[in-house]
Amino acid sequence: KAEDGYRLWLRYDRVTNSRLLESYARQTRSIALTGNTPTMALAEKELLTALSGLTGRKPEITRQQGATTTLLIETASAKLSKAELSTLGDEGFIIKTTGTGAGQVLVITANTDRGVLYGVFHFLRLLQTQESIASLNIRSVPRMKLRMLNHWDNLDRTVERGYAGFSIWNWHTLPGYIDQRYTDYARANASLGINGTVLTNVNANATVLTPPYLQKVKALADTYRPYGIKVYLTARFSAPVESGQLPTADPLDPRVQLWWKNKISEIYALVPDFGGFLVKANSEGQPGPQDYHRNHAEGANMLADAIAPFKGIVIWRAFVYSAEVSDDRHKQAYNEFVPLDGKFRPNVLVQVKNGAIDFMPREPFHPLFGAMPQTPLLMEFQVTQEYLGQGTHLVYLAPLFKECLDSDTYSKGKGSTVAKVVDGSLQGHALNGMAGVANIGTDINWTGHPFGQANWYALGRLAWDHQLSAAAIAEEWVRMSYTNDPGFVQEITRMMLASRETMVQYMNPIGLHHIMATGHHYGPAPWIADLSRPEWNPVYYHRADSAGIGFDRTSSGSNALGQYHPGAAATWADPDTCPEEYLLWFHHLPWQHRMKSGRSLWNELCHQYNQGVEGVARMQETWEKAGKKTDEQRYRQVKMLLNIQHQEAKWWRDACLLYFQTFSRQPIPAVYGQPEHS
Ligand code: GCU
Repeated sequence: KAEDGYRLWLRYDRVTNSRLLESYARQTRSIALTGNTPTMALAEKELLTALSGLTGRKPEITRQQGATTTLLIETASAKLSKAELSTLGDEGFIIKTTGTGAGQVLVITANTDRGVLYGVFHFLRLLQTQESIASLNIRSVPRMKLRMLNHWDNLDRTVERGYAGFSIWNWHTLPGYIDQRYTDYARANASLGINGTVLTNVNANATVLTPPYLQKVKALADTYRPYGIKVYLTARFSAPVESGQLPTADPLDPRVQLWWKNKISEIYALVPDFGGFLVKANSEGQPGPQDYHRNHAEGANMLADAIAPFKGIVIWRAFVYSAEVSDDRHKQAYNEFVPLDGKFRPNVLVQVKNGAIDFMPREPFHPLFGAMPQTPLLMEFQVTQEYLGQGTHLVYLAPLFKECLDSDTYSKGKGSTVAKVVDGSLQGHALNGMAGVANIGTDINWTGHPFGQANWYALGRLAWDHQLSAAAIAEEWVRMSYTNDPGFVQEITRMMLASRETMVQYMNPIGLHHIMATGHHYGPAPWIADLSRPEWNPVYYHRADSAGIGFDRTSSGSNALGQYHPGAAATWADPDTCPEEYLLWFHHLPWQHRMKSGRSLWNELCHQYNQGVEGVARMQETWEKAGKKTDEQRYRQVKMLLNIQHQEAKWWRDACLLYFQTFSRQPIPAVYGQPEHS
């Protein structure tokens, strides 16, 4: 079947447990769905599709509650008290069993249709994961306001760091042709509560701001609106020059300010609920305010002032590093942004990558979290696996996301987690959120690797509720995407949860980082040393020499550690207390350094790399046994990909150990066999 992967986690296959099937059929026998807005129509359509699939019976849906109604779906339902509704905000919902006996009705309600739609998806998830719905009292409110995908999609449909085909947006046939994929994409996002999408690459092209393209943007915005999804665009800072023929893009020049004002009015005339702009400026060669000797705040505020009358926002990225700064790249964003805290307009958020280098398999949290109390910081995770094996490696990312979110910044004392910084609760920011760089493309299964879907899913679920555990999210996803078979669920969830650590072991153990090949970032190349900019070279990061290995970021080295609150930095500062997963991130240590295992650092490195390879072999075994319980197509796809991953894990191990061995000058312990590549 061609569509095995296409349906994502919204498969709605028949419920296999007959007791539950009967209860679900009973509870959904007679549905009243009041209101006839486009969003309510979507809720109705989803229920019809889902329940027909799950129960095998097309439900009866009426417009008004009657004596026989078993499931009532309505906005601001009178079945609930005003007090109950008042805590839900614009997007939260309640699913509650009300009444008793024959009068028992299950109610799904919210203050808005959007909230109701989220409630319907949540309800369907209960059925998909075979939960009891006999007596429900669920209240769910998103912990973050902006729950976004960032697409690094170019107008020619190539996707920067995309490994799942081309961009799903066909700018050529827009605005006249609305591809089914656009709505299926919106459904999938709405099912998770994702409420914003940035359509274009951060390395922006000003063409999207021209009138013909804005018509296309409008068509997409109109399509996504009923799903509660706002459209955002990236703004190329030099657009007034490229597109407006002005001699300058200086944010303090009145002509530039006027150009953006007019452009923004033009956008809002077409898209009245346009979300705003995402801006990458003065980073990796992109234009920005510093080209005119203005700072990031002056650049961001100019756009913020122009968009404020329309209630739009500006999301300004903190991912900056440049050739002009010779200090440890780790430190640049903090150095540029911390002095600007308090200088941004209220409708500006600063978007910060989870770590200070660049979406590594493992990074400590970015030192900006907690360090800019007056500025809302939006989390940027990368869902597409640029540095994590790209489209061929099975790596479940929720543990990575959680590790960062749960990290303690200590900025307002113990317990000041990154999650509390980005959900706004630590500093009281009403504007807050989380974004993921999307892994979506035109591949039939959307994400290339069938398990890439789990990372899209996890990003959305955590943006809604960062307190969910990685295990709970994996389990839901497996149940919805594959089967509720208990053995399969247990085995595959376990495999997913271990996958990230396995990948760290075969790629970047003990705090190593950025030793991927240059440019494409696929595969190992720790030996690269001759690129024009030092911070592009892997040798810059591992610093291996005959004495040892690792990047000294303590006070005797670059002192990037000094950017963290002492509460967080204290344990990292001393190699004896530093968790070993960050050891070579912060320290340069001798090859003989004694590790907790009792092994020398060199032997531990060999051990870790080998563990990584063995971890992939275990994944293969798990899939071989459990995978047969799924459809032939996905079974074979994942099997082939795991074979590639196993080969590549060995490639990583052998390449890195043989290279580092030229410095350590010690044997690879015989227990690991001889490298297969030489
Ligand atoms: C990484 C990535 C680039 C991207 C950049 C960014 O460096 O390799 O392709 O443009 O991040 O986040 O801006």
